[in-house]
Amino acid sequence: MFDLIINNGKVVTAKDSFKADVGIKNGKILAIGERLKGNSRTEIIDAKGKLVMPGAIDVHVHLQLPFCGTVSADDFENGTKAAACGGVTTVIDYAIQTKGSTITEAIKARKKEAETKVCVDYSLHGGITDWNDRTQKEVGEIIKKEGIPSFKMFMIYKTQGWMADDGALYQALETTAPLGGMIMVHAESVFVLDMLVARYHEIKNKVSAYGHVLSRPNFTEYEAVQRAVLWAEVTGGKLYVVHISTGEACDILKRSQEKGARVYGETCPQYLLLDDSVFKGKDGHLYATCPQIKKKKDSLRLWKALYDGELAIVSTDTCTFDKKQKAMWKGDFTKIPFGMPGVETMLPLTFHFGKKKGFSINKIVEICCTNPAKLHGLYPEKGTLAIGSDADIVVYDPNIKVKIDYHKLQTNCDWSPYQGWQIQGWPTVTLSRGKIVAMNAKFVGEKGWGRFVKRKPFGEIR
Ligand code: URP
Ligand code: ZN
Ligand code: ZN
Repeated sequence: MFDLIINNGKVVTAKDSFKADVGIKNGKILAIGERLKGNSRTEIIDAKGKLVMPGAIDVHVHLQLPFCGTVSADDFENGTKAAACGGVTTVIDYAIQTKGSTITEAIKARKKEAETKVCVDYSLHGGITDWNDRTQKEVGEIIKKEGIPSFKMFMIYKTQGWMADDGALYQALETTAPLGGMIMVHAESVFVLDMLVARYHEIKNKVSAYGHVLSRPNFTEYEAVQRAVLWAEVTGGKLYVVHISTGEACDILKRSQEKGARVYGETCPQYLLLDDSVFKGKDGHLYATCPQIKKKKDSLRLWKALYDGELAIVSTDTCTFDKKQKAMWKGDFTKIPFGMPGVETMLPLTFHFGKKKGFSINKIVEICCTNPAKLHGLYPEKGTLAIGSDADIVVYDPNIKVKIDYHKLQTNCDWSPYQGWQIQGWPTVTLSRGKIVAMNAKFVGEKGWGRFVKRKPFGEIR
């Protein structure tokens, strides 16, 4: 007998949309069909007029991350509450290796920080900052034993001690290829970028927050993307470029994909919806992320790349810094904590603006739920609605009109990049493994409910 039935909704997957009820038992989907019947103990959610979608998966968040001299303001508890309110039922954060120590130690430490706090399911990407024989051996073990098949490498961030050079990147791609692992890169050209940052820093008072834009022309992203893509092509490795912000990077991915290389990319709402004129405003510094938001023509190309499939995923790069933290810049654009909130608004923004761009609701499910699950090894337990899948489900009201207001959001952020924007559509109920964790954009779940999920290697979308 069902624990819960979602009645009368329109079930939406990446492939289909159809009227059906969804029956849930022990946290899993037990049936999808017409007129499912429960008993007196079965909880009923009436989804008439609503969409019933898989929970979204945000594969790129940084909760309570020590970064830029502070710690990101949404921790594992509040960040995952915010996720639930926005229809995100799984997040993937990072366990970044400290030089001289192992990725395994970083994973252990990050899990300890997360496990008693997380309110929806989560996983971690390993972060490789110290490529050596020990790291090379450990990567295979992590894929097999820890259920972590993805590793992030930063092509910048020298001073943070995170930067990986091209030799390390090449070897990591080579090592993980036969193991079904995936190398993720933050792609920016470190040497030219650092030189330009220093150049504009000299005249920081003249350029203000716009110095962040001037020091990061498009080529500082696409040159690094081109290089990483080449290493993937020649090693046969699987490459995933995070937070793509330029049109040129999409062209590079397209050409490489046409040659049959396993190169993938994600972008984020801030790159799809904002442009670099925000840095000229009074609070321009608030919008600083890394890489920075580019031009309108880049946003247009990013939408097209999602539509055509060159970009597979929308994620957020959530790294929340409130106004007080952002104020640390004191007029010096090189000192702005890079990052912004995002996990709570990802699905509603992608839904609203995606529809305006001609995306079907199935396509929106594909880029926010199914592709993230497939590529990151969570499918079909997550990312779709099917018998036996986890009951990570969003009942979505496609008609509700919402004015985005950070006061009403769960995030700890005291500003929003989308403040006052009018959009249509928001989740009304979010289920995590069959448990209601958010209702009408309010968190109603339980701290510590989320579990670490082991992911599988060899995830593919094509
Ligand atoms: O601005 C950003 N993206 N902050 C988080 C660190 C990163 O590079 O993803
Ligand atoms: Zn990054
Ligand atoms: Zn990031």
